[in-house]
Amino acid sequence: MQAISNDRIPNNVSLASDQRLQRALLNWQPSFINWWKEMGPEGFLSSRVYLRTAVSVDAEGWAFYDYVRMPEYRWGIFLAPREENRAIGFGDNLGQKAWQEVPGEHRGALRRLIVTQADTEPASVEQQRDLGKTCPSLYDLRNLFQVNVEEGRHLWAMVYLLHSYFGRDGRDEADELLARRSGNVDNPRILHTFNEPIDDWLSFFMFTTFTDRDGKFQLLALAESGFDPLARTCRFMLTEEAHHLFVGQTGVQRVIRRSAELMNQHNTDDIARHGGIPLTLLQKYINFWYSNSLDLFGSEVSSNAASYFAAGLKGRAFEEKLFSEHRALNQTYQLELWENGKLSPTEISLRSAMNELLRDAYTQDNLRAVEKWNKDLLAHHIDYQFTLPQKRFHRKVGEYADRPFDPMGHPISEAAWRERLSEYLPTNEERAFVKTLMQPITNEGEVAGWIAPPNKGINGQAVDFKYVLLS
Ligand SMILES: [Fe+2]
Ligand SMILES: [Fe+2]
Repeated sequence: MQAISNDRIPNNVSLASDQRLQRALLNWQPSFINWWKEMGPEGFLSSRVYLRTAVSVDAEGWAFYDYVRMPEYRWGIFLAPREENRAIGFGDNLGQKAWQEVPGEHRGALRRLIVTQADTEPASVEQQRDLGKTCPSLYDLRNLFQVNVEEGRHLWAMVYLLHSYFGRDGRDEADELLARRSGNVDNPRILHTFNEPIDDWLSFFMFTTFTDRDGKFQLLALAESGFDPLARTCRFMLTEEAHHLFVGQTGVQRVIRRSAELMNQHNTDDIARHGGIPLTLLQKYINFWYSNSLDLFGSEVSSNAASYFAAGLKGRAFEEKLFSEHRALNQTYQLELWENGKLSPTEISLRSAMNELLRDAYTQDNLRAVEKWNKDLLAHHIDYQFTLPQKRFHRKVGEYADRPFDPMGHPISEAAWRERLSEYLPTNEERAFVKTLMQPITNEGEVAGWIAPPNKGINGQAVDFKYVLLS
């Protein structure tokens, strides 16, 4: 492994030999640190956190853990190793040599794809900046910060691409990425889901389950890209995303476990007064975050997605493994479109349905997560099962946007929607209740009453290890 450990920017892209790029990135670095200090986790700038830092892409370089102050975290640039003679695996350019430089005719589209992905990375750090103040344990606090610094590294990874391959435009875009602010009216983040604050830990665990999983699938699709540096960047980012999903999935699982224990202990479903989160309320949070995250895949019928696929810019997740015909020609996708006040089955060309294919794959992955949660309920002898709402429910983007469908996907009247809204989604009172549970627990080994302790610690450490040294 030829990881060049650069003092200031760890990397495996031979940064030392590219003076121009090095200068550009060293120029951008202070702005990034300023952004972190202004918009990163509030109140923990000088705390020392037990964090994993990537120092190279091999297994050893990957497992480097130590205490570090977050503004001193060594954000690096790592791409998965280059495959000799890699060919484009889909679309009209199938079989041609992957591009090592940006093809002129695809410059605009590639820049847009990269910027849209890049914008979500700092956005999520901004959304989560207040969470540290109400952490349920030091273990969870550390995991939050690990996710945050890695989203910061994902920003670095994308900024590297912009600086290296997109010249002046790329540098401007890199600056813009530090100028937009989640939730800001004048200069918001690009995608609406990334403009909602995440200010309670239940939302954080839902976000890392459902929204980080959108990230995983976007990265899987971009990891297929014919633009090789983008593909390699995304492949390495996927290894980090796995930890974010772990944090989300086990986080929700621990909440469920605690709720189940309280239900059994007090022999009631109404565990709110015993400091637990009722299962019906958890289901509403699932409804909210899952439907919100579905929007991130874009419109069901998309000519943009079709042209990205045709050009070889953005592919299908697991193209090689799951598909035999890699051009996606002369095939259709069956969809129910909303026409004249009703759903009508329609066949669209498979290429126009690329967003929908990715959304389907995403849903399958989520179903596996929900299944695991349901197993936990069974193990506690509780007769309740979580479900994912149908994809038409509560959408803000695409064919079903802003139309009333119930969680089964049936069209309902506006009046019925308003009447049942409080059964479907968390009410303001319920959100406020969840917030009352969010009291900081910062003694080592202690865990808040609304969530079960983790099964095991991080990197072989005990659960009661001092994961964060508060200053
Ligand atoms: Fe990310
Ligand atoms: Fe993530």
